[in-house]
Amino acid sequence: MLRSALMNVMTAAALKAGRVLKRDFGEVENLQVSIKGPGDFVTAADRRSEKILVEELSKARPGYGFVLEESGRIEATDKTHVWYIDPLDGTTNFLHGLPIFAISIALAREGKIVAGLVHNPATGDTYAAEKGQGAYLNNRRLRVAARRNISECLIGCGIPHIGKSKEHPRFQADLKAVMARAGNLRRLGSAALDLCFVASGSYDGFWERDLKPWDIAAGIIIIREGGGFVTDTEGGEEMLAKGSICAGNEAIHRDLLALIRG
Ligand code: IPD
Ligand code: CA
Ligand code: CA
Repeated sequence: MLRSALMNVMTAAALKAGRVLKRDFGEVENLQVSIKGPGDFVTAADRRSEKILVEELSKARPGYGFVLEESGRIEATDKTHVWYIDPLDGTTNFLHGLPIFAISIALAREGKIVAGLVHNPATGDTYAAEKGQGAYLNNRRLRVAARRNISECLIGCGIPHIGKSKEHPRFQADLKAVMARAGNLRRLGSAALDLCFVASGSYDGFWERDLKPWDIAAGIIIIREGGGFVTDTEGGEEMLAKGSICAGNEAIHRDLLALIRG
């Protein structure tokens, strides 16, 4: 388990926001049957979560900057530290009452991610990693899966939604290539948790394009500290800038990248 002061701060903030998100998730079920649906309520829940995270992290680490999904950038007095935060990753799942959603928090120091935490309020699971200290799910040390033959592998992916129809042909090409070789595929709907599932060995690999830094910053360090390999879909280190990601153990990362490269 990671017990540094920094991890305590990140965990406390995530658990506090998580409690509120879990309560709101309970409400969403009641709203499914209304004609208007729970859309506005979910937007409000998302903002509530972000507000709590910013308040808690600012109290504990005054002056650090923020890159936030809902409120954008908050410039810092401390130019070396930036939090990357997704207050609710897996919004579509949340909206439909599926308990696969998370809070994702990462800290970058001088442009390098040094800590990441992903918390699923519905299950109570917390995935966390600090540079050089390993990755954990609650109290358990994480390790990526050892499978080397992609035909036996479970590979996760992200499917572009209807508003991203320009990306559909590219995804269909990727899917065709991966389906021809991989054992089976999943699309669970929270990129932050998807990356944690690679770190925990549930998925053998994962790829997705067109993501934002707050979707993946925490998951990247959690996979690497779990012994996994992560690059962008061109095999480079520009995951946050390009928004694409390919992950797995060394062998599966290499094979998956060869199938989807570009
Ligand atoms: C989304 C989720 C989803 C991914 C989307 C993201 P959101 O984040 O991570 O898995 O496929 O591209 O935008 O909107 O739920 O925070
Ligand atoms: Ca997200
Ligand atoms: Ca979000």
